[in-house]
Amino acid sequence: MIKVRNLNKIYNPKHNPVHALVDINLDIPYSKRIAIVGKSGSGKSTLMQVMSTLDWATSGEVLINDDNILQYNEKQLDTFRAEKMGFIFQNFYVDDTQNVQENISLPLEIIGENKATRKSKIETALKSVDLLEKSNTLASELSGGQRQRLAIARAIVNKPKILFADEPTGNLDSQTGAKIIQTLFDLTHHLGTTLIMVTHDNSLAKMCDIIFEIKDGCAALINNKEMI
Ligand SMILES: Nc1ncnc2c1ncn2[C@@H]1O[C@H](COP(=O)(O)OP(=O)(O)OP(=O)(O)O)[C@@H](O)[C@H]1O
Ligand SMILES: [Mg+2]
Repeated sequence: MIKVRNLNKIYNPKHNPVHALVDINLDIPYSKRIAIVGKSGSGKSTLMQVMSTLDWATSGEVLINDDNILQYNEKQLDTFRAEKMGFIFQNFYVDDTQNVQENISLPLEIIGENKATRKSKIETALKSVDLLEKSNTLASELSGGQRQRLAIARAIVNKPKILFADEPTGNLDSQTGAKIIQTLFDLTHHLGTTLIMVTHDNSLAKMCDIIFEIKDGCAALINNKEMI
């Protein structure tokens, strides 16, 4: 179980405080698919960034195997993220100066995979998002949807135990989006990955095991059947 305890995030606490997360408590069983829904500006992306340790919490805990990962130092976090986590976020974090395969290689380098293993894992990930033919293309030369698929390939290349996805199909046409969701769901299934996904698509949320709604920075568990 991933346990989120009394999580708070206040942006600009001194000058112009925005209380984006207000005492969030969540119980997330391993290997399940979790949908995070809610209106624009409600705090969904903030929750994903803070839970995944890419941004600092103001207070609170994220317990994985009863270890509070928010207390890890940078080195512990780098290793933990590279080994255990995958991220697909709205602002991508794609490096425009690198080509497609270089962008995907980093988590594998951090965990010390050799060149041949990296190459084969990168190819598998690129195939699963239909981007293999762009391996050597500079990220700056990709379309928006291709960048999104690159971000997805990078997120799954290390076969993560926890996968954070913030509107993973936001920039994609419905057919490509459906294929990507299938890829993410297959991965979840085969690896026992916990998928934590922000979506505004109710039919996609309903395909998940658990739905949390964020309202003004507060979280509530909602029943699948309450979804329209
Ligand atoms: N870096 C920041 N500095 C200050 N305030 C921020 C920052 N990022 C987000 N906020 C504020 O925190 C609140 C939650 O933002 P967040 O990005 O988490 O919303 P969201 O639910 O992901 O919205 P959307 O569906 O539009 O992506 C908003 O009021 C937003 O203006
Ligand atoms: Mg957002």
